[in-house]
Amino acid sequence: MSHVEEDTGTRRDFLYVATGAAGAVTVGAAVWPLINQMNPSADVQAMASIQVDVGAVAPGQQITALWQGKPVFIRRRTEEEIAAARDVNLGDLPDPLAANANLPAEASAADENRSLDEAGEWLVMIGVCTHLGCVPLGEAGDFGGWFCPCHGSHYDTSGRIRRGPAPTNLPVPQAEFISDTVIRLG
Ligand code: FES
Repeated sequence: MSHVEEDTGTRRDFLYVATGAAGAVTVGAAVWPLINQMNPSADVQAMASIQVDVGAVAPGQQITALWQGKPVFIRRRTEEEIAAARDVNLGDLPDPLAANANLPAEASAADENRSLDEAGEWLVMIGVCTHLGCVPLGEAGDFGGWFCPCHGSHYDTSGRIRRGPAPTNLPVPQAEFISDTVIRLG
């Protein structure tokens, strides 16, 4: 084999590798916002729109995504939590509005207007107390939902304020399922 032929072969190899590397970078860029299924509590960086893989979230579990600088709770509710949220007299709610960015502003705070799916298994909310902005704790408080220890606000299993100084329900951000297991926020 001549010296020239060796050079040509080397250059071809280099071009092939470079093309493969460019392809890998593109795939990586498309996939990186997905939360690692093995580590569902991992945050993702703030972006205008993010995709969250919830395939590894079991009933009774919650993950927190970081979206636009805010924590977003994504909870897969148990049957009991759904029943508790739906078995509420709407007249007992301090804030009568759904606070759901996916619905008209006047939509009522019925649990059906807050859950992401019709069955009510998935609840997606911005995890910032509507009083003064603390991050509420899950599975806590007098209504089995979230509790903000800063000044004692109790939210129910639908994220609706039930007792304490917070004036409004935890807001539901723009969100939708774009596949069986992936939720897009924003
Ligand atoms: S910030 Fe949550 S109760 Fe005050």
